[in-house]
Amino acid sequence: MEPAPRRRTLVLVAHPDLPASRVTAHLAEAAGALEDTTVHDLAAAYPDGRISVTDEQRLLVEHDRIVWLFPWHWYSVPSALKAWMDQVLVYGFAYGAGGTALHGKELQLVTSTGGPESSYAPDGHNGFTMGELLAPIAATANLTGMRLAEPLVLFGARTASDEELGLHAERCLALLAA
Ligand SMILES: Cc1cc2nc3c(=O)[nH]c(=O)nc-3n(C[C@H](O)[C@H](O)[C@H](O)COP(=O)(O)O)c2cc1C
Repeated sequence: MEPAPRRRTLVLVAHPDLPASRVTAHLAEAAGALEDTTVHDLAAAYPDGRISVTDEQRLLVEHDRIVWLFPWHWYSVPSALKAWMDQVLVYGFAYGAGGTALHGKELQLVTSTGGPESSYAPDGHNGFTMGELLAPIAATANLTGMRLAEPLVLFGARTASDEELGLHAERCLALLAA
């Protein structure tokens, strides 16, 4: 029997200032060592912010699992990732008539927050759970035919010890290598 084809993973990195990042930069660098994995930093690819839609769509088509690696900014994705969504996930490609390019792919979110996990609760500082706040992304995955995997979140990133960050990176790599 033929061995199953290996799953190709695209890690889309969206951070407005990666050199100043602790968490995202660490994970992006670690993911670069994985097989069958393309790490694609949006800020490095498009320093002027002008996204090549055809290049981005080609990358999506070439991979089976799409990872969004980003810091949690204002209860959402950073603006560069939102711009990427607006421009790349268009009618006829990602949804609508003929828009089946992403069907069956997996969408994996890897993010980190400043707030501790306890703050993401109805009675917590932020008033909503992470699952509630991620509803627009769940709806996006739904519309585009992607399976949204359980998000990997490092809560309290700013105060996380090096050891906690290391454990989180191990979890992330294990997930991506699976
Ligand atoms: C512009 C901006 C907005 C942020 N918004 C949030 C937020 O809504 N909730 C939260 O818990 N942390 C928020 N943070 C904290 C970041 O999520 C945190 O610093 C980041 O995950 C750390 O990752 P990094 O080292 O890769 O930058 C924000 C930080 C910045 C700079």
